[in-house]
Formats: sequence, structure tokens, C-alpha cells
Amino acid sequence: MILSPSILAADFGILAEQIKQVERAGAKWLHIDVMDGHFVKNISFAMPVIKSIRKYTDLFFDVHLMISSPLDYIDAIIDAGADGVTFHIEAVDDPRVCVDRIRRRGRLAGISFSPDTPVEAVLPYINDVDMILAMTVYPGLGGQKYMTRVNDKIKRLRAAAGEDFLIQVDGGVTKENIDEILEAGANVIVAGTCVFTGDIERNIKDLTR
Ligand code: DX5
Ligand code: ZN
Repeated sequence: MILSPSILAADFGILAEQIKQVERAGAKWLHIDVMDGHFVKNISFAMPVIKSIRKYTDLFFDVHLMISSPLDYIDAIIDAGADGVTFHIEAVDDPRVCVDRIRRRGRLAGISFSPDTPVEAVLPYINDVDMILAMTVYPGLGGQKYMTRVNDKIKRLRAAAGEDFLIQVDGGVTKENIDEILEAGANVIVAGTCVFTGDIERNIKDLTR
């Protein structure tokens, strides 16, 4: 299992320090949510922040683009320091164009789908991408409740993709529900609120025990 702590829930005033705590706890990935105020209502941050924190860590930068025109920003996001780029299938006409762009730059390419998008929308791309991200909350905000109805989609994905494929789950993960999520077939777990509330190192150790 790969844990990808989401810095959306971090204290941005001491971001580099909190990323060090993530590293110390043994996590290898860092989930970075980019929101444009258009594809989702919320606005977060983008290239300048990614570029700044890139100086402080070698963690794998798992960038989740919640933006309307991912193709226009993939190169800039990679230039800023992304190791993996995941975009939303709802935001593009032909996902393969974005996947090609990401892979041509040698980065891990992921496709995400929102809770109301059927799993059939992403199944045709399993052989074209490195990771599929099943959103278990509506994208745009941290701290929401996990939608258990997405578990069936995770199971369908795992059955179709085979055992090593990366299936990421994002939204509402807690120490209480992580086992059921892993059991459904996810192997890359994003966690924001439950990592950055309280003792970061303790929380990560509890989630990855
Ligand atoms: C939501 C973001 C998530 C968010 C998860 O749109 O994509 O990555 O940070 O936060 P929690 O773990 O608090 O649900
Ligand atoms: Zn995310």
C-alpha cells in the first residue's frame, strides 16, 4: 500500500516543516491538489507552491489536477516538480492526449473520475495509464465523508486491471475505514484531514501499521 498524504489539509505557514514530518513517518508520496475555481468551485494553489516545496523533499509528487483544461498545464506542472499527474476524465474530450503528454515527459499518468461518473467511463483506459483515481468524495474540498457506494467501482476496477495496477482512492479516508478500502482493492491511499490533524507522524504510522 502506498500512502499519499494530501497537503490540502496542511498548515501552509509551516508547509516545509510538515512535509519533513511526513517523510520522517516513512511516507513516500505526497498528494498535491490543484484546483482552478472552475472545474471545482474551490481554488487551491499550483506551480509556485509545487516549485517551492520541491526544494525541500524528494517525496514522489502525486499531483491531482482538478482543473478544466489539464492539457494546457501539464508541462508547467511537470516543470514545477510533479512526478505523477492525474487529471479528471470529466474535464477532457480525449484522455489519451493528456496521457501521452504526461508520459512523453516520463511521468506517471493517472485518470481520475468523480463519484457520479460510472466506472465504465474509465475502464477502456486501463491499459493506457499508470493509475486510476476513484474519487470517494465530490472533488473540491477536504474533510468530507467517505462515500461507501464507490467501493463497488473499486472492486470492478481491481477485477478488470489485475493485481499490480495502481488504484488510488481520494476523499474521506480515516483510520477506521482504511481497511475496508484496501479490501475493496485500492492500493494508493490519499489522506488529508486524518494525516494533518494532530500528530502527523503518529497518524501516518497508524494508517500504515
Ligand atoms: C478533494 C481532494 C482530496 C482531499 C482529501 O477534492 O482531492 O485530495 O485533500 O482530503 P480528506 O482526506 O480530508 O478527505
Ligand atoms: Zn486529491
